[in-house]
Amino acid sequence: MGLNKKFIDLFHKVSVQAALASYYFVGKKDKIAADKAAVDAMRKELNKIDMKGQIVIGEGELDDAPMLHIGEKVGSMNGPDLDIAVDPLEGTNFAAYNLPGAISVIAVAEKNNLFNAPETYMDKISTNVTEDNIVDLDFSIKKNIYNLSEFKNKKPENLTACILDRPRHKDIIDELIKLKVKLKLITDGDVSGAILVTNEKFDVDIFLGIGGGPEGVLAASALDAYNCNFQGRFIFETEDDKIRAKKMGIKDFQKKYSIKEIVSGDSIFCATGITSGDLVSGIKIQNNEFISETLITHKSTGLKKIITNKQKI
Ligand code: FBP
Repeated sequence: MGLNKKFIDLFHKVSVQAALASYYFVGKKDKIAADKAAVDAMRKELNKIDMKGQIVIGEGELDDAPMLHIGEKVGSMNGPDLDIAVDPLEGTNFAAYNLPGAISVIAVAEKNNLFNAPETYMDKISTNVTEDNIVDLDFSIKKNIYNLSEFKNKKPENLTACILDRPRHKDIIDELIKLKVKLKLITDGDVSGAILVTNEKFDVDIFLGIGGGPEGVLAASALDAYNCNFQGRFIFETEDDKIRAKKMGIKDFQKKYSIKEIVSGDSIFCATGITSGDLVSGIKIQNNEFISETLITHKSTGLKKIITNKQKI
């Protein structure tokens, strides 16, 4: 049975309801309340679905936010066994300050096909190049840019790299500037950032840098549907991080994960806009209806589409 079309509609609804719940808190300078609203709505909708769902990626533990817990069971417990990754509000600052780019995100795969990632940082890289040895997390910035430049037949100055604007990225950013690469510096929201390589209209050739591990897994599931590439390496800074990782079955703390090790088999990805951003428009109210846009991918049917939903207020 697997992830048939019925599930696309159901998870689309989950994502939309989380986005709508959080929309009430847009511009209210309260990111915890905005996050909690999205989490609660997402849990409520997930529990209506006929499935034996398990949360493998929850979000929020790093900053003590309300969260759908890793390991939490969701659904009616009748139906297929599914792995679920969620980020009910990705870009809590965007929502709190009414800035572009807040989204609700969910990714679903059949059991044991989504990586069970700990709540730590991850070093990530994504491109739309799937050939081996062109772009790799283990290569220097210079090698990646020169390889990409040759492969795409575009001068480095015509390449764009997307990266979170953080002090920890100073060396990478300095190197990219030295190489004359155009930067797209994002203040938050690296699920979207990583996905911008999927379509030329976004004009991003490479996404790189350190961000949340859960966000990496979510981005990877969309990138897999687009047949793009992603690699990630978790960063375990403290003994506590390592203990938790071990409990999740991670033995090699230095391991570089390929996209196929993060997501395999069939998957559904939904990202609904809360405030308008690069990927999707935010919630709008027209004629007494909420209008939302959701980027939906479904690996097995090749669906990759922005779907508009209207719902009576
Ligand atoms: P939140 O929605 O939880 O606030 O996360 C936003 C985000 O920018 C993610 O997209 C990114 O992976 C992470 O925070 C980066 O973490 P940090 O802000 O600590 O650099």
